[in-house]
Amino acid sequence: MTDLQPDYPIRNVTDWDAVNDEPMGTKPKYWLRPPVDERWLFKKKHRPNSDDDWSEKIAAELAGLLGIPHATVDLARRHGNRGILSRDLVAECKAEELIHGNSLLVEADPDYPAGDIYRVAHHTIERIFSAFSARSVGLPLGTDFAPEIVEARDLFVGYLLFDAWIGNTDRHHENWAILKYAGDRYALSPSYDHASSLGHNVQDDERAERLMTRDRYRQIAAYAAKAKSAIYRDRDDRKPVSTDEAFTLACVPCRAAGVYWLDRLRRIADDDATDIVRRVPQEIMSDVAKRFVSQILQANRTRLLTLTL
Ligand SMILES: Nc1ncnc2c1ncn2[C@@H]1O[C@H](COP(=O)(O)OP(=O)(O)OP(=O)(O)O)[C@@H](O)[C@H]1O
Ligand SMILES: [Mg+2]
Repeated sequence: MTDLQPDYPIRNVTDWDAVNDEPMGTKPKYWLRPPVDERWLFKKKHRPNSDDDWSEKIAAELAGLLGIPHATVDLARRHGNRGILSRDLVAECKAEELIHGNSLLVEADPDYPAGDIYRVAHHTIERIFSAFSARSVGLPLGTDFAPEIVEARDLFVGYLLFDAWIGNTDRHHENWAILKYAGDRYALSPSYDHASSLGHNVQDDERAERLMTRDRYRQIAAYAAKAKSAIYRDRDDRKPVSTDEAFTLACVPCRAAGVYWLDRLRRIADDDATDIVRRVPQEIMSDVAKRFVSQILQANRTRLLTLTL
């Protein structure tokens, strides 16, 4: 491990101008413009019992460790409220527009339930990958990828392994997107909205109990293994697949990419992930929450590394 890094700063953005609301997504948020620089989306901490500010910050840093293109996230406070800032990735990528998954999927099938968010069994790997093919979606511009990562679906496999590592249960069809560039060129968007992960909505007393218990069904490995994705195996299924299975299903047509991403995960030291967690200031994240999150990451990584593709 490298030298001990300081805590992540919490930026006070009370005096940034609010430039417009963000209509997508379910939680309160609006775009702010700093005195210089692009706009940043301010996402206010959602509910008293949901730590979706530190989960989103930690997830963004972990994405960086794994090599997943991602929105830049900072912890923030505005008018005394906890939240995060997510830097406008359309501007950062010099793209023209973000097109959400549901808009792409409904192009291929007019019956696709684009207006629903949850329990959308039409949201399958097969449809997602065909939507990439239909628009010849490539890789984000300006980033170098390994030879195994050739097209959008190879990178999406990495997003799904990332989701399984952090326990992100919210990869629904508005939480992935493509970017449109000038000249009708398209690329998979960097990943964003990872707040629903890392046991963000478990309370500290339950975290402490799960850290201590000898009942293996209550232990963190058991909790972590239960994460469900927002992706289905088949449109007739009633339940989504697990985050692990979303990854393995995507690996069927993209085995080389799956092997590559698993190898990236293998090469991450648990200590490096724990160090990212440690850097969240104590004022917004307790020691118990830090131990709980570090153990989720270790448990998920250990389990994922036993997968054979
Ligand atoms: N960094 C970013 N750059 C550009 N657009 C973004 C960024 N982050 C979020 N968005 C846009 O804002 C929308 C809502 O943001 P986000 O998904 O983070 O919110 P949410 O309320 O947590 O969503 P959900 O209902 O999925 O939980 C996204 O669907 C996307 O269109
Ligand atoms: Mg969202």
